[in-house]
Amino acid sequence: MNAITQINADVQKQITDAFNFRHACKLFDAERKISDGEFETILEAGRLSPTSFGHEPFRILVIQTPEKRELFRPFSWGANGMMSGTDGQLGTASHFGIILASTAETMKAGSDYLQNFYREVKYLPEDVIGMFNGAYGNFQSTDHNITTDREILDWSGKQAYIVLANMMTAGALMGIDSCPMEGFDMEKTTQVLEQEFGIDTNAWRPAVMFGFGYRAGEPAFDKTRRSVEDTVTWF
Ligand SMILES: Cc1cc2nc3c(=O)[nH]c(=O)nc-3n(C[C@H](O)[C@H](O)[C@H](O)COP(=O)(O)O)c2cc1C
Repeated sequence: MNAITQINADVQKQITDAFNFRHACKLFDAERKISDGEFETILEAGRLSPTSFGHEPFRILVIQTPEKRELFRPFSWGANGMMSGTDGQLGTASHFGIILASTAETMKAGSDYLQNFYREVKYLPEDVIGMFNGAYGNFQSTDHNITTDREILDWSGKQAYIVLANMMTAGALMGIDSCPMEGFDMEKTTQVLEQEFGIDTNAWRPAVMFGFGYRAGEPAFDKTRRSVEDTVTWF
């Protein structure tokens, strides 16, 4: 085995180990905090994630103030520990937050927001912007038939989930635990975000919550998955 092959074999093992290490952590050790540098790396993994058309229809809210977190407790059954009689991820995560997804207000083809985005973030010349408007318009109206407010929001939410997946893998590679959470009431979460966080909910809606930290104990269950044969089909 040459040096490069050996390095790749080591990386393959690190990746597989990280995916086996990661589990949906129900309770974190509230005393152990993730360092600023490590959490910045996790956020970078999210920010640099791929998104369809490169539109970045997401925003990451990190909620560290305990009183702010508690606002979600009454209706966040997947994060408040009610299943285990604990403080849950909400009360124990070193870092807790919500990924927001863009609504149709900004993600409808031809929106003012997208015109600015193409110019100011993507630095696209005007003729390419014209092409983008056409291709994305066609993608929404014909290819994927994503036209209603709900369909566009769901499309943004799909991108948000890629972001969170990459954040969790980045964490796992550093020995940091995490939990993705959609066990919460959408309507009430949206209300809290608008009233207590000043989020413009015409433009942003909650997609998924996250917790990062260090496990309080070992997972209650071994990881189980369908077999490779049932999961992957080669042609
Ligand atoms: C999008 C998404 C939402 C989830 N919501 C919750 C949740 O609200 N609360 C929770 O404890 N676990 C939640 N989970 C964790 C899953 O139940 C868990 O990932 C699954 O059972 C597989 O177990 P593992 O992640 O430990 O391998 C969620 C997972 C995903 C991907």
